[in-house]
Amino acid sequence: MKKLLLTICYFSYFVGAYGQSTLSIVGPGKEVNPYLYTVQKRGEFKQAAVSSAHPLASMVGAVVMKKGGNAFDAAIATQLVLAVVYPNAGNIGGGGFLLGRKVNGELIGIDYREAAPASASRDMYLDKNGNAKLNLSQNGHLASGIPGTVAGLFTTMNYAKLPFSQLIQPAIDIAANGYVLTEKEAASLNSVKDAIVKNSTQANAFVKSTRWKVGDTLVQKELAATLQRIQQEGQKGFYEGKTAELIVAEMKRGNGIVSMDDLKNYQAKMRAPISFNYRGHQVISFAPPSSGGILLAQMLKMIEKYPVSKYGFQTRKSVQLMIEAERRAYADRAEFMGDPDFFKVPIKTLISDDYLAKRMSDYDSDKAGISSNIKAGVIKESEETTHLSIVDAEGNMVAVTTTLNNSYGCRTVVGGAGFLLNNEMDDFSVKPGVPNMYGAVGGEANAIQPGKRMLSSMTPTLVLKDNKPFVVIGTPGGTTIPTSVYQAIVNMIDFNMGVGDAIDKPKFHHQWLPDEVMVENDFDATTKDQLQKMGYKISMRGAIGRTEGIKFLPNKRREAAADKRGDDSVAGF
Ligand code: DON
Repeated sequence: MKKLLLTICYFSYFVGAYGQSTLSIVGPGKEVNPYLYTVQKRGEFKQAAVSSAHPLASMVGAVVMKKGGNAFDAAIATQLVLAVVYPNAGNIGGGGFLLGRKVNGELIGIDYREAAPASASRDMYLDKNGNAKLNLSQNGHLASGIPGTVAGLFTTMNYAKLPFSQLIQPAIDIAANGYVLTEKEAASLNSVKDAIVKNSTQANAFVKSTRWKVGDTLVQKELAATLQRIQQEGQKGFYEGKTAELIVAEMKRGNGIVSMDDLKNYQAKMRAPISFNYRGHQVISFAPPSSGGILLAQMLKMIEKYPVSKYGFQTRKSVQLMIEAERRAYADRAEFMGDPDFFKVPIKTLISDDYLAKRMSDYDSDKAGISSNIKAGVIKESEETTHLSIVDAEGNMVAVTTTLNNSYGCRTVVGGAGFLLNNEMDDFSVKPGVPNMYGAVGGEANAIQPGKRMLSSMTPTLVLKDNKPFVVIGTPGGTTIPTSVYQAIVNMIDFNMGVGDAIDKPKFHHQWLPDEVMVENDFDATTKDQLQKMGYKISMRGAIGRTEGIKFLPNKRREAAADKRGDDSVAGF
């Protein structure tokens, strides 16, 4: 194992009682020490690797594989640890998508996106004058969809090897006995304190009277008890019984509408992945209710006939072409994409060569496009999420993107149960043309209906070369997710970069509306000036995404990289 970058080392002293567990890997002196851990940005591993938003989560995933689990076991254990150590986005109160490829070639798409409660309605976030009340779709109890994560984890068990009771034990141990906060985590908890106090109805572990500081230990007893109920009772330990009662009691205290029946009826769904070719590689990504796979296919296929590598990395020419593909794909997102169980999404057409050639027919390499001139195509047929990438020794690949939507979701902690709820209802189009928190607009396709899943941008993605594993990748970032994955893939395939560089390079983003290009602060100044001269409106912004990737090297080793933009970290062996 090669450690390329060691950035942080935190420790504190702990005296506590660790229960005997079936997978007792957490604690001082054990494989995973939550009081002494380091962030590792890159690593080359012989057999198995994990890249996730937190060192403890990546380490647990790697140890699970070392002890006989496969990539699916590791995905379950890693997500559960993220639900403890990364409350911004790791969750049991949210939802996500898992995309997997078994070594025998079988593709697996598990949709555990949140769903609108049975008593949700199309205009539930409009006032009597028809104005959107975005505060209600974004903050507090009414913003929460029915959580899907726990159902997703149990569906993933169909592909795992180890018992669930073992896979959840590390998360229980860390919740019960605490972990040491990094500087970023302490600052993040301080910044969200007022919002959590405002939107929660009972005391909880995230809020204390003094400020959090680096090296503090965060203990989450109520969350540990919730996880133990799930350990003992399975899926019902969340969707029925005491946990469900605590969720519904929280809803009643805060005018939310998720009911016992909503929880009991929630099911994860299997989705056939989106698959397409790009310059001799097979790219596999997630289907609706995520827009991610379609957008990725559209953008890559729109630029495929152009010699992007000849244009040069992030030159005016290559960036302008990529922006115009982004603009056109996002115009289609607003019109045609939603939950396929409620709205017929014309997937085949949207990613067909003919259709995409027509979409680019008005592309002019010398002129900035204008979004008001670019409508969705004509079709005749009737910040905070988190991503983890995992590969195991056999060659199974798993990409999971999971979210509460905003950082810390709706900022409501379920009283007595210790976890945050999502604010995923804001990913619906609450009113045609009204932008959600990511500036995305939509209409009929993504209108609210009971039981419907809100349109996502999450893009867990696998790439094969010669039908063999090549890359596992994905990122958070709201509507910037598909463009980050698109650019990381172009960086690897067109510009031949390693996965770490492909991820860390500055990103740019256009989403049709608003008609502007967002670029990260470290984006090339010359290219930016040239694009501005062409007429592009450019806005500078902080980090776009936190991409985690693993690439298979020709010597069969796995090159893992965690985004430079956070505490993200890799582990493996
Ligand atoms: O599903 C979606 O597209 C959004 N709820 C994702 C939110 C997200 O990535 C926030 N992260 N920065």
